[in-house]
Amino acid sequence: MKKVLLIGADGMLGGELRERLEKNYDVVGTTIETLDITDKDAVMKKAEEVKPDFIINCAAYTNVDGCETHEELAMSVNGSAVANIAEAAKKTDSTFIHISTDYVFPGNLPVEKFYTEDMMPAPVSAYGRTKLVGEENAKKAGKYYILRTAWLYGLGGKNFVKTMLKLSKDRDELTVVNDQHGSPTSTTTLCKIIENVMEKEPEYGIYHSTNEGFTTWYDFTRKIFEFANVSTKVKPISSQEYKTMYPQSSDRPTNSQLSKDKLKAVGIVPEPWESALKEYLKEELKVADIDQTTR
Ligand SMILES: NC(=O)c1ccc[n+]([C@@H]2O[C@H](COP(=O)([O-])OP(=O)(O)OC[C@H]3O[C@@H](n4cnc5c(N)ncnc54)[C@H](OP(=O)(O)O)[C@@H]3O)[C@@H](O)[C@H]2O)c1
Repeated sequence: MKKVLLIGADGMLGGELRERLEKNYDVVGTTIETLDITDKDAVMKKAEEVKPDFIINCAAYTNVDGCETHEELAMSVNGSAVANIAEAAKKTDSTFIHISTDYVFPGNLPVEKFYTEDMMPAPVSAYGRTKLVGEENAKKAGKYYILRTAWLYGLGGKNFVKTMLKLSKDRDELTVVNDQHGSPTSTTTLCKIIENVMEKEPEYGIYHSTNEGFTTWYDFTRKIFEFANVSTKVKPISSQEYKTMYPQSSDRPTNSQLSKDKLKAVGIVPEPWESALKEYLKEELKVADIDQTTR
């Protein structure tokens, strides 16, 4: 059985990935309590002790707005610490799988266009800047996959879908930004992509790894409410209006759609975001057949 050192094994993605990988791999999972990735000696020691075939990094400072006020801390976790893991991977000759984000891109493409892996990143937020440094550091492993994902939601963590469902319980109307475009991605889809990458071991490099299709936060919310049979109204607002309401919030890309052509070319085809959302809501809402609940 191949060995995996799974870092950030209690996060939203890491928790689900751990459960899935344990069926086929010998997994050693770490959390911030057992391995702080900013501690280089500890990271090296853990990797040398485990001698993994794969090191997967799901740990990160993921509060996008929080990064604006805590950029130094975010940089140490999302940026510098990734070099520790890359060096440990190199030393133990293991393959490094690192998770990155669509927010490394400026997001100023026309809406019908996608970012490909070879396009130039230029983040508009502190989170994006820290994750971009992380990408550069991940490459130092030599044998690496950087999987850029987006708008991630899953059962084991705080996320946009849960927030909208929670808010809908006390409100008749919610205002949601309708001029930012991206691909909502379920942790289940991303786990399947990671498993496929581990099995197929395609050429090392960056792979865009989201669900297929795209939407806006506004239409995403409408779809969540449609599938969950929630009657709360959704009112569209612009990013500018949102920024006026929440001046501390981070700037975000207007269009951060990622092309999946490179992923598909190696035989990994993610499902459409709508069907992934439906599957997630079945579990989240414990509904046997969500189609029965929708109008
Ligand atoms: N969530 C999204 O919408 C989204 C979008 C695009 C990309 N991504 C990327 O996807 C990956 C997984 O995200 P996620 O949403 O699953 O994240 P998450 O739920 O926030 O999990 C991240 C984990 O990393 C841990 N961590 C923080 N600092 C650490 C440190 N110094 N050492 C070790 N562990 C540390 C956190 O612990 P604490 O909770 O105790 O701090 C948490 O358990 C990340 O790389 C993220 O950047 C996420």
